[in-house]
Parts: sequence; C-alpha cells; structure tokens
Amino acid sequence: MKRTLASRLNAEIVPSEITDRDVYLNRRQFLASAGGAAAGAALLLGAPALSWSQDRSRFANAAPSPYSTGEEQTAFEQATTYNNFWEFGKQKWEPAQNSGDFEPRPWTVTVSGEVGAPLTLDVDDLIGRFSLEERIYRLRCVEGWSMVIPWVGFPLSEMIKAAEPTSKAKFVHFVTLYSKEQFPAHRSNAYLPWPYEEALRLDEAMNELTVMAAGMYGQELTNQNGAPLRLLVPWKYGFKSIKSIVSIELTEDQPKATWNAANPRWYGWYSNVNPRVNPVPYSQATETRIGENRRRRTELFNGYGEYVAHLYEDLDLRRNY
Ligand code: MTE
Repeated sequence: MKRTLASRLNAEIVPSEITDRDVYLNRRQFLASAGGAAAGAALLLGAPALSWSQDRSRFANAAPSPYSTGEEQTAFEQATTYNNFWEFGKQKWEPAQNSGDFEPRPWTVTVSGEVGAPLTLDVDDLIGRFSLEERIYRLRCVEGWSMVIPWVGFPLSEMIKAAEPTSKAKFVHFVTLYSKEQFPAHRSNAYLPWPYEEALRLDEAMNELTVMAAGMYGQELTNQNGAPLRLLVPWKYGFKSIKSIVSIELTEDQPKATWNAANPRWYGWYSNVNPRVNPVPYSQATETRIGENRRRRTELFNGYGEYVAHLYEDLDLRRNY
C-alpha cells in the first residue's frame, strides 16, 4: 500500500503491456462458446457433466448490470500484474509472481454471528447459488491510482439475506484466509498483523453496489486478485475490498479493520473516496488511471454518490472519509 509515485507508475507501464479491448472481448466470446462446446462434448462422450456450481462458463456468460461503467477498461495484464495483496509481498509485481502455488480450492466460507441461519459452504456451492452479474467498476486506491475492471459476482446483500440477520446485526466483519503454507507474509510474519480483516456497516453491506466477486474479465478471479472470493465496495478506497475471504460475521459492535487499526489517522474506518480530505499525508484530489499518462480529478465517493451519499448524511464530509 505504499506511496508509488504517479511518475514511476507511468514509467513502469509500457504500451505493449496493454491489451486491446477488442482482443479481450473476442476472447470472452471464445471462452463463452468454448464453455458451451465443452459441455456438449461432455454429453456426447458420456463424461460426467459439470455441476451447475462448477460450470466455469457462467463467468463468461454473466448478465450485464445497470451499475457498470462504460469507461475504457484497464488491460487484463495490468489488472493482474499491478496488485496489492501483501500476503504475497509488498511490491506491485509480487502477488502475480508469488501466487502461482496458491490453492483457492477446496475452500470453505462461513457466514456467522448475528444470523438466524449460519452458513458453512464450499465456495463453488456458494457461488452456484446466485446468478452472476458482470459489474464494471472503478477501483480507486488510496495510493493515488485507479483502474476500471470488469468483475463477475453477485450482490453481497443476497448472501446476507440467505443467512437471515437478527435484529442485533449492525456491522459485517470480513476475514481473509490465515495460512502459513499459502501466504509467504504469514510465514515470515511480515508487514501487518494477520489475517487481513475488513468491515462495513450493515447498510453499506446491503447496498446495491456491494458485490462479492468470484470472477473478472469473463473468467475466474486470478489468485493475485483475491481468488476465490473477494469484496468490492467501489465508493471506498481499494483497501476495503478484501481478498480471499473465508469468514463473514455479522456483529452488534463495530469490528476491527486491518489498515484502520494499523494507523487510524491515515486510514479511516469508513474510507470513502473523498478528494477533499487527505487522510494519508498526500493529496487525494487527483489520481492516475493505470494505462494513462495524466492525472484525473478524483470524484467524491469515486463517482458513485447517487447510490451511496444517503448513507452518510450524518457524517461531516469535510472531515470524515
Ligand atoms: N486484501 C488482502 N487480503 N490483502 C491485501 O493486501 N490489498 C487491498 C485490497 N484487498 C489487500 C486486499 C488494496 S490496498 C487494494 S488497492 C486492493 O485490494 C487491490 O486489488 P487488486 O490487486 O485486485 O487491484
């Protein structure tokens, strides 16, 4: 999460790394038809058909969403090689380089705490329960860069409703897997207290923009982007979008969040994108869209105010973020 200068950023990204959007779109069509063809071949050959929960062509066939932005998308290569996932290392290239042996399956996710119907589910059974949507969202990191990524997932609200929150539930607490075998930084006890934790207010978690992503660019999430399941809260700084989640707990009291606990002056518990407040000791007024050579103005709530501003009527936006 540390201060990468925009100038360095731009120098690091050479045009040859950028995938043409048409190439990506054609690839999606190919993946979709390949998925269909594979299912057909399985039937012909008498091979066991994929169960509905394991059918990966669902990622390529996800329904479009009215909440998606039409802005130019970040190249797949950049979204999957310029990452923050400190469990695999601090440098932007380390998650891609060090996550090859990570095993996102088998994987169990629990929904517990203030719920009437706690869930413990295999991740594919969980994903299989919901209809998948493509959500093309802006992601704004507190370091001053942004991307536009076509994620595939389902609204977190559907998952929470399935667990039947009690009247005491006020917050939602998310935890990343803790594993010394799987994560180098857990082994060496480096950088942060592990596991990574994040939290939302229940009304934030139930907002229509809040998504659990299981895929991106028409396929499964890569390990470095948070396989098998990560959170997306596009109006908040990127560190709220916790990766590789194993536990979701509904609570009565406000839960701990890793960056907020590490440095509460720099990283607010809410951390809504706000160009007028500079939590970290550098300006949040502008950002560099990865792949571009200019600074853009950062928008309040990362441009998602029409969906979320009502959640913060009681917060003084000149001070809180
Ligand atoms: N989740 C975990 N478990 N560990 C992390 O280090 N980094 C966060 C967030 N989720 C992080 C995490 C930060 S700082 C950002 S900006 C986003 O993931 C980056 O997501 P991306 O690599 O998919 O672009």
